[in-house]
Amino acid sequence: MKREPVDLDGLKGSLEEIGVVASGSRENESLVILYEGKERVVTNESLVLIENRNGNKVLAICRGGFGINDSLRTSEYTPGIAYARRGGSTSTAKEYYAFRLVAIGDVTSGRIVQNAKIIAPGSRVYRFNEGFNPMTFLSSSEQRLGYYATGYKTWEVPVQAEYISSHIGIFGVTGSGKSFLCRHQVVPMLLRNGYDVLILDWKGSDYAPHYPGKVLNMGDVELDDEAIIDYLASALNYFGGGDIGKRLELYLGEVIATHNWKGKDEFETAKRLLSEMERVIIEDNTDQSGKLSRWGDTYLRKATRAFNNLDRQDLKPVMGTMKPREIVERLRRERLLVLDLSYGAKEQKLSVFLSIARHLKRMMEEKRTINVALVIDEAPQYCPWQPRGLEERTTKTLTELAALGRSYKLALTLISQGIAGEIGINAAVRRNLNTLFVGRIHPLDAPEAEKYFATSYVSSDQLLRLPEGHFFLIGKLNPSPVPLLITFEIPEEERVRGA
Ligand SMILES: Nc1ncnc2c1ncn2[C@@H]1O[C@H](COP(=O)(O)OP(=O)(O)OP(=O)(O)O)[C@@H](O)[C@H]1O
Ligand SMILES: [Mg+2]
Repeated sequence: MKREPVDLDGLKGSLEEIGVVASGSRENESLVILYEGKERVVTNESLVLIENRNGNKVLAICRGGFGINDSLRTSEYTPGIAYARRGGSTSTAKEYYAFRLVAIGDVTSGRIVQNAKIIAPGSRVYRFNEGFNPMTFLSSSEQRLGYYATGYKTWEVPVQAEYISSHIGIFGVTGSGKSFLCRHQVVPMLLRNGYDVLILDWKGSDYAPHYPGKVLNMGDVELDDEAIIDYLASALNYFGGGDIGKRLELYLGEVIATHNWKGKDEFETAKRLLSEMERVIIEDNTDQSGKLSRWGDTYLRKATRAFNNLDRQDLKPVMGTMKPREIVERLRRERLLVLDLSYGAKEQKLSVFLSIARHLKRMMEEKRTINVALVIDEAPQYCPWQPRGLEERTTKTLTELAALGRSYKLALTLISQGIAGEIGINAAVRRNLNTLFVGRIHPLDAPEAEKYFATSYVSSDQLLRLPEGHFFLIGKLNPSPVPLLITFEIPEEERVRGA
């Protein structure tokens, strides 16, 4: 789309002059000294336009303000300090306020390009009022998300939706608004862009209650053979482990592959599983004269003991009948489904995930564009920094899905309270998330978060204090090279419920 060059005179009614650029400026960074009184209206994250005396117009963000009063320097004794000691008033004659400006880019042509000109000291700086929406500089995309947090509600943030399948991460401590962001902004964006959305609700409380009629229970899902073997082996305590345990796992695998073990209920299933196990063990450990070997005897005893210790409840997850293929078919019809994973132990939840994930992977391996978005809350449960047991498999599967997904349109949205380390998600998976929403973070995450904000002057103390529902948008979806602080409105009825 062709854009009109920025006509400052035409814009003047929508701009308010707030200060001038100080000495020591560069192309992407400078200081603005505020005119008297403007320190009351210009805040951190305010958007400004610099009328660069070197011939262009630069859009920038105020980040990191400070106030200076020469009479109140603490390194030496000044008259101001003398007054302060006596409780008298100090002079404001030598006082000024300044903000660091982080350049987003050159907007002279009406659209954003990298700024290559040094910002001249003395250039005038303006802030925008409601009459003009500076977001139009960033992109002409029709796709929008929330609004610029320190602007007006009309300043909806344009996003580069073609990068949805480069995957999304949403981070913030508990109560920072991740689930709300996801439900009210991210999920609608995914749907608008043609993705069918499958939400994996670990706790069953964040999503399931909000999508009545679209909820699947994890118990309904039929696990694939691999997931059943993994799951049952762990439920059977790996038959006591060791070499014997390993051998029995192999027998279990044979049994599952017969597809002849499922009964009409858990009770019958347990009986059938054990009798099939016995059959396979005997078959493999009987010599030509028909005599069971000593090992065979041991295998039988161990298998029986393991099955006797199995709770009937533990078999619930293998009783599901809805195949991953049918889930995807239903997803196509309904466009959105929530898989409630709240009942069941962790291994069961991960097994359900694996069955579905492997099906999606197979679809992509057939070189099909699948247009599916997987939204995974509580992501560290699937891919923690140091995966163990089944987590190793889920972590690997997520990395594979991420790689294939970029080509065949499987978009991941991973939600986590922490970014890195013990509270975060696995580095191999995290590397695949090319768009991040970072809300209020945990102090343990400050060093990791700082890496993402290295050159954009968002400080970790700002991230530690973000209000709920405020997120920095970083990465591919963001049309600006600099992180933008966004927020969004939540509907009235949710506000009442939240209160
Ligand atoms: N945009 C917003 N504006 C105002 N309040 C909000 C906004 N987003 C979220 N909140 C408030 O923050 C509360 C917590 O939000 P939410 O449940 O999304 O947190 P969360 O990050 O998902 O937490 P958890 O990690 O515990 O699941 C909500 O109950 C809501 O009242
Ligand atoms: Mg939540």
